[in-house]
Formats: sequence, structure tokens, C-alpha cells
Amino acid sequence: MSAVTTRPVAVVTGGARRLGRHLCLSLAARGYDVVIVYRSSDDDARTLVQAIAATGRRARAVKVDVADKHAVAAAFAGIGAAEGRVDLLVNNVGNYNPQSVTALDPDVWDDTIAANLSGAYYCCYGALKLMPAGGHIINIGMAGLEGIRANTRGTDYYVSKTGLLVLTRALAAAYAPQQIRVNMVSPGQLENSVDLPPPEEISQWVPIGRSGTLDDIAQAVHYLLDAGYVTGQNLDVAGGYRL
Ligand SMILES: NC(=O)c1ccc[n+]([C@@H]2O[C@H](COP(=O)([O-])OP(=O)(O)OC[C@H]3O[C@@H](n4cnc5c(N)ncnc54)[C@H](OP(=O)(O)O)[C@@H]3O)[C@@H](O)[C@H]2O)c1
Repeated sequence: MSAVTTRPVAVVTGGARRLGRHLCLSLAARGYDVVIVYRSSDDDARTLVQAIAATGRRARAVKVDVADKHAVAAAFAGIGAAEGRVDLLVNNVGNYNPQSVTALDPDVWDDTIAANLSGAYYCCYGALKLMPAGGHIINIGMAGLEGIRANTRGTDYYVSKTGLLVLTRALAAAYAPQQIRVNMVSPGQLENSVDLPPPEEISQWVPIGRSGTLDDIAQAVHYLLDAGYVTGQNLDVAGGYRL
């Protein structure tokens, strides 16, 4: 994208692959121009820009490590110059490298908190400066955040997502007078989960009896986009997982 756009602009972090890619495509289909924030998947980012362009929307891929606050600030300065606005930010980066808390490497802890929580905040900070009334931030969480539980495997991830929920609510309360909403969508066991139980065991974990699809998550994002009076909420999209 070379000129400031008058169309709504969505910024999706971790947007080149998997859930983020699906959200980029569905947001483009809804009418957004899309800025795809990614870290290393150059080929996926390039093909996604092409796929969105083929639908008539504009797309631009921005390579940035969201854990680097200076790089994020530069990226949003670039978005200010190129697109001129951010109507929707989806904080989709959520690194999950599960290990027992009894052996949790401090470097893994630091990396998880930096990307999943601090990185999301850096992006909120950059996006909010470019966000008009009617804008929206959607943070991607994980199912079962309500009520603090012992999560002995992936504790760093759980802490990062719990912090993201706290951030969601604080920003929702603070920015509501400016007509900016902040919500969270929390997947459970998606069909591409690294932890997915075998099909014959899925109903032991997920009461509705199947894993979630990427479209299940996109539906929830689109619901929140339509639901203009909903802010500060965390929507589990998980088929009853971790109820
Ligand atoms: N999959 C599930 O079953 C599930 C369940 C519950 C919650 N969720 C949540 O749903 C979201 C998406 O999950 P996913 O499995 O699709 O994600 P993913 O494959 O783990 O990661 C998505 C992308 O995030 C990017 N990324 C990672 N660290 C980054 C950084 N520091 N800076 C910029 N980009 C970075 C990577 O981009 P590059 O490839 O360019 O490096 C990666 O492609 C996450 O928030 C996750 O916690 C997923």
C-alpha cells in the first residue's frame, strides 16, 4: 500500500500463517485493508498479500518482532504513514512451548511474556494512536482463563494470556469514552493444536465432541465486530473445553 487509505484497516499480528492467516482473509472479505505483521514466514506473507490483493482489497506485510518495542514503534509509524489509520488490531501472536513449571527455563519464560504479553501491549500502544472512534482491539486468548487455576504445563503461556485478559479489561474501560472497544476471543482445542487429543478421545476433553475450526474463531471475531455495545469481554470459543 503506498497511499493513505479511506477504507477500514485491520492489523493482524502473527498474520502470515495458521489462525492469523485465516483471520486476515476473512477480514479482507469483510472489507478491510490488511496489514499482516509477521516475524519469519516471508513466503507465506508474500502469498497472503497476493491472495488478498486478488480479492480487490489492499494488503501489506510488515516483518517485525513484536517483542521488540522499538521495532513495533517503527512499524506503527510506518502504518501511520502508509495506511494512516488502524480500525482493528488483532493481537494473535501467542507462542506456546509447553514444559513443566518444575523445569521452566527462564529464557523460555522471558520469550513467552515478551512476545505474548509485552508485544501485545506495544502493538496496542502503537495502534491506539492511529485508531478512530469505532475502532476495536481483539486479543486472542486461551479457553478457561476465568478463575485462576493451576496450569503446571505451559505456565508461562497461561500467565501471558491471563495478563492479556487483564490488559483487555483495563484498555476497554479506559478507551470506552472514545468509542474504542477492546475484547478477547479465546480458542480451546483447535484442529491444528499441538496438544490435540486423538479423535476418539476428543469428547473426554471437549464436551461438544470436536476440535475447533479456524472458522469457529473467525465467526467470534466477526460477532464482536458487529456487537457495538460489547466491550471488555472474553469470549471462549471452545466447545465447552475447560469449563
Ligand atoms: N492453535 C490452537 O489450538 C490454539 C488454542 C488456544 C489458543 N490459541 C491462540 O491462537 C493464536 C494463534 O494460534 P496459532 O497456533 O495459529 O499461532 P502460531 O502458529 O503459534 O503463531 C502464529 C504466528 O505468530 C508469529 N509470531 C510468533 N512470535 C512472533 C513475534 N515475536 N513477532 C511477530 N510474530 C510472531 C509467527 O510468525 P512467523 O511464522 O512469521 O515467524 C507465527 O506464524 C495464539 O494467540 C494462540 O495462543 C491457539
